[in-house]
Formats: sequence, C-alpha cells, structure tokens
Amino acid sequence: MNVVILAAGQGKRMRSDLPKVLHPLAGKPLLGHVLDAVREIGAERICVVYGHGGEQVRIALDAPDITWALQEPQLGTGHAVLQAMPSAVSHQGTSFGAPSAPTLVLYGDVPLIRAPTLRRLIEAAGVGSLALLTAHLDNPQGYGRIVRVGGAVKRIVEEKDADDAERAIREINTGILVAPTAALARWLPSLGKRNAQGEYYLTDIVALAVAEGMPVVTAHPDEPWETEGINSKAQLATLERVHQRNIAGQLMEAGVTLSDPARIDVRGELLCGRDISIDVNCVFEGRVELADNVAIGANCVLKNCRIGSGTRIRPFCHIEDAVVGPDGIIGPYARLRPGTELGRDVHVGNFVEVKNSSIADHSKANHLAYLGDATIGSRVNIGAGTITCNYDGANKLRTVIEDDAFIGSDTQLVAPVTVGRGATLGAGTTLTRDAPPDQLTVSRAKQISIPGWKRPTKNPNAKKKD
Ligand code: UD1
Ligand code: MG
Repeated sequence: MNVVILAAGQGKRMRSDLPKVLHPLAGKPLLGHVLDAVREIGAERICVVYGHGGEQVRIALDAPDITWALQEPQLGTGHAVLQAMPSAVSHQGTSFGAPSAPTLVLYGDVPLIRAPTLRRLIEAAGVGSLALLTAHLDNPQGYGRIVRVGGAVKRIVEEKDADDAERAIREINTGILVAPTAALARWLPSLGKRNAQGEYYLTDIVALAVAEGMPVVTAHPDEPWETEGINSKAQLATLERVHQRNIAGQLMEAGVTLSDPARIDVRGELLCGRDISIDVNCVFEGRVELADNVAIGANCVLKNCRIGSGTRIRPFCHIEDAVVGPDGIIGPYARLRPGTELGRDVHVGNFVEVKNSSIADHSKANHLAYLGDATIGSRVNIGAGTITCNYDGANKLRTVIEDDAFIGSDTQLVAPVTVGRGATLGAGTTLTRDAPPDQLTVSRAKQISIPGWKRPTKNPNAKKKD
C-alpha cells in the first residue's frame, strides 16, 4: 500500500503561526493521528505532501517510513498528489511509489479517521478499482458532491462549480480515496484547472476513471466525525471532545469508573487495572499506569507515571515522571516531580514537593515540605516545614535519611548530609553535619524568659496622623 497524506494547506482560519497539521489534538499533532491510523493498517510507504510551515512539519514528525514531498506553490489537491508520484521522483529526490500497490490518499487535517474504515475502503478498491470514501450529510454545504447516474458514480462536482441540482445532492466526497497507482500517475499530469477555483482538482480523476471504464466504488465511514476536517480552533475543540469522549467510553468499557466521562483528558496512553476510579477534571499525559484499586481525586494532572495498587491520589495533585508504590496516600495538593520513587504505604500530604528522591515503605511527609535529591528510608517521619537545602547555587547535593529517623518540624537539612538510623532531629534544627543514629540532634538558640519584661504601650499624647 502506498499512502499519500496531503498536508500542504495553509490553515489560515487557525490564525496561528503553527502549521495547521501540527496543532495538537489530545497532545499529539493532527498529522500524527493520521500517521497512527495508516501505520495501524500496515502501510509501509507513507508520503507526506507538505508546504506551509514546511521544515517545522518535517522536523516534528520525521520517521524512517515517511518520505516528504514539497508542494510549493499549492495548486490544488490534484497537484498535491502529483508531487508524491513516481513521475516526480527525479526532481523530488524521493523514492516513493510502488506502481503495483494501490495508493491511499488522506488529509493531514482529518485526524480521527480510523483503521477499520480505511481497511473497508481498501477492500472495496481491490486491485483495479477507484474507491471513494463518501458520506451522506444533512447539510452537505462546502463539500464536493458525488454525482451518480443510475446508481453508478460518474464524477465529483465541487460546491463552487455545482449547479442547483448538483448542490442538492447529499452524498459528499470526504476526500479520502484509494486508486490504482499506475492509473493515478497517468491521470494526474492530465488534470486541468479550468474550474471555479482555478485549481488542479484531485476529484477530476473520477470522471477520468469512468471514461476509461474503470469501476468506481464507494465505502462509508462508521462515524461521521471520522472524516471531519479541522479548519478552525472551534472545529479543533469539537473533535478534541469527540476524541476524549471516545477514550472515556473505552475506559468505562474496560471497567474504569469515571465520575463524568465529559470531564477527563487523556493526552497519551492511560493503562488501567481493575476497579480504578477517576474523579472529574483529571489530565493524563504521556504514559500513565494505574494499578488495581487506584483512586484519583478531582483535578489531578498525571504525566509519565506509575501508581501502585490501592493508592489514593487525593484532589489537586501534580505528578510527573514518578513512581508511586502501592497503598499510598498522596495529596491533596502534592507535587511529585521527576525522579520521585515512593515505596509502599507512603504518605505525601498537602503542599509537599518531592523531586529526584526516593522514599521507602511506610514513611510519611504529611505537610508543607520540600524533599529534593534525598534518599529516605523506611518508617521515617518528616515533620511539617522540613526543607532539604539541596542546592548551593552551583551543585545539587544529596540528603540521606536512614530508616526510622524522625525529622522535627521546620528543619533544614543542608546537603550533603546524613541522618543516621533512628535519629531524631529537634524541631527547627538547621542540620549542617551528619546526625548520628539513635540520638537527638538539635541546633537551636537556647530558650530564655525575661522576668518583669513589659510590652511597649502607645503614648496617649501622640498626635494622630491624618
Ligand atoms: C476537498 C475536495 C472536496 C471534498 C473536501 C472534503 C478537491 C478538489 N475537493 O475540497 O471534494 O469534499 O476536500 O473536505 O479535492 N491540500 C494540499 N495542497 C493543495 C490543496 C490542498 O496539500 O494544494 C490539502 C489541504 O491541506 C487539506 C486537503 O488537501 O488537507 C484538502 O484541501 P482543501 O482545500 O480543504 O479542499 P476542499 O476545497 O475542502
Ligand atoms: Mg477543506
């Protein structure tokens, strides 16, 4: 199978400097979604016709299975596909096109097309037919119309070239088609541009096929949104919701409890065990794994992380590049930054930030702490307000807290420093040297009380300021 993806269009209505096909849907460029769908059907050679924002598009999505064909200027969909043809090989320097296999044409701004629909279209085309993906719409405005005579497809007429009778046709061209490659290479150079838009229309190949006696067949998408294109931010938002609703549906199908399927965003891969519940407004990015019985509270953002079974993530947590062990309690309002590894039954409470640190089983940091570049053992208690001073302005330095240590509240651990096994640090300690095991270490100005001391009082004769 040869695949051509048209992605040279400008996308003026996006009103953006970013090329249209790079706008993200579910965190991935529109064109990336189309590439996923064609890779799913096993396409080996994919040619992307690019133009606007050229190099940016190439850099963002280049891969060994893609050849790139520059279309400059953009003279229409027929001209675009021509750039990908073997006849263009010599001056494009690309190696696209096996004439014996058919060619599938797709649009880079139609992101939700699905593999089963493409397979059906390819099957309909067989080896010697032209197959069009068409749809019946209540409002066909703007689309090319499928003109049939006695049930057989005769040609496609663009909206701007259509007469009233043709405009009344409700079967439209989605733009996705499969054609025999050799025929396509023969037809494309012969296309003219004497039409309302002065463009080389790919759709004119239908009449050419009919004239040659080649069968023209049609297939239809399972869902109308599969062939919807994106030209504006409003359409982008609409398809984002469709896509998210589909993901929510799959999650629920797999047994995940969602408080509201309309209020979840998955921008990557979310892998769920059994009996997971996810409250509203959670965002999942990259690859997130939730083991059995995990509960995620409202308004959490989880990116590239693994959460162990039975762990509860309370509302408003932000977790990135982290591993959380089983039976933990995280949050509300906890931030686990990259390099965090938590063992079993670890509690990280509100306004606790953990970075590049490991915290072993049954340890707790329940309130207001910063733990950076630290190795923390088991059954450690980190008091409220504890800070690892891990940065001297030039280097990041490590703090080690051994098993069963107790860190009093409002303690600063000036790294590099080690707190021995079973050690206790008195509240308010600024630890600059290692604390020996099993002892109380405290650095604190001696407490004094001054008998007879009087609070200052206001002078009753002082002039009031106005
Ligand atoms: C096209 C079809 C129309 C169909 C509609 C479906 C033609 C002549 N018309 O119309 O029958 O109903 O799509 O949405 O094919 N592109 C390029 N280079 C170009 C022109 C376009 O790469 O020179 C790309 C665009 O980026 C876009 C796709 O081709 O992804 C379709 O182009 P667009 O201008 O939207 O075509 P329509 O006029 O909507
Ligand atoms: Mg269009």
